[in-house]
Amino acid sequence: MDSIKKTDNFVFQTYQRQGKAFVKGQGVFLWDEDGKKYTDFLAGIAVVSLGHCHPKITEAIQRQASTLVHVSNLFYTMPQADLASKLCEKSFADRVFFANSGAEANEAAIKLSRRYFQKKGEKNRFKIITMEQSFHGRTMATLSATGQDKIKDGFYPLLKGFAYVPFNDIDALKNEIDETVCAIMLEPVQGEGGVIPADPDYLIAVRELCNDKKILLIFDEIQCGMGRCGTLFAHELYGITPDIMTLAKALGNGLPIGAMLATQDAATGFDFGSHATTFGGTPLATAAGLEVVNIISKEIFLDKVCQIGEYFNEELKKLKEKHTRVLDVRGKGLLLGMELDKDAGSIVVELFKKGFIINGIQDKILRFVPPLIIEKQEIDRLIKELDSLL
Ligand SMILES: Cc1ncc(COP(=O)(O)O)c(C=O)c1O
Repeated sequence: MDSIKKTDNFVFQTYQRQGKAFVKGQGVFLWDEDGKKYTDFLAGIAVVSLGHCHPKITEAIQRQASTLVHVSNLFYTMPQADLASKLCEKSFADRVFFANSGAEANEAAIKLSRRYFQKKGEKNRFKIITMEQSFHGRTMATLSATGQDKIKDGFYPLLKGFAYVPFNDIDALKNEIDETVCAIMLEPVQGEGGVIPADPDYLIAVRELCNDKKILLIFDEIQCGMGRCGTLFAHELYGITPDIMTLAKALGNGLPIGAMLATQDAATGFDFGSHATTFGGTPLATAAGLEVVNIISKEIFLDKVCQIGEYFNEELKKLKEKHTRVLDVRGKGLLLGMELDKDAGSIVVELFKKGFIINGIQDKILRFVPPLIIEKQEIDRLIKELDSLL
């Protein structure tokens, strides 16, 4: 039985896959079982930001895999200590909690913000305001936080204590604030919801509101962080910082890892035993993560992401000028979206046949999240095909 038949027979049918099995990846390219080469503008959904099998990451994984893979969080290890201190050095944060996925990092952020106030005796402060169209994960708490009804179907009742407001609407947010609110949680650039950046004035006003009302501000940077928007963290584009931030996806360049970062003050919400996960911050995952942060945080690397992101954005905008089917082009850095009048799916399928991997979200939007090492010539090739398909 081939891999496709076997998967379809034995793996839960929760993913609608495109009918190819991949066997090899290198840089921005992937190869399927028939030896056909593809240019990857999806990067495993904004994960393989340094490209497939980046030599330095491969070397870090191999080195760590042959030294020490797992000992549990009952003990100390150097890779975990190094990655935590590096993330704090590069961000607003003072402390890091390691998890294994984005949903788990967000789960930790939700738990931390509730416990922060409950520990202070403010037991009624449990409500978390999130944004319509947001995506925060598929566990019950993160699904409850997510502002999209379609993915909640069949899972009710969800967790109590979440409220949803339109994104980029400061009045709607202010109207939802009451004495029960413990946190506001948002993606500085919404990914799954349609590649929608926060307006600068809005994000600054949200920070001020949180300061005024002593509410914790959580940024979910699982998709938009780690260099994706041209700065190490997307909120740097806005000149403000959150109290809590979550990361995952690109942090391990493909090795599963998530992280919740917090200020010293917010971190006081957790004590010994408040939260835990067996696999959080294994030496293997954190050794890879450390190498990823070392590479992505270099100014020269981030400058290139900005330049190439701008070029890609401009080229997509030229297609908008040319084709009435294109309603909008938006995004930051290399997190870009093209909104069509209808049916992004057929373009995705046609591009796939021509050897380009992108994906469609919210029915009408083409999302481009290539490895951050993508070059102009690959972008030019994609634009040419997209032009003729449009
Ligand atoms: C912004 C955001 N938050 C959370 C998640 C959930 O991450 P994971 O799939 O690793 O649980 C995702 C995944 O797409 C995401 O884009």
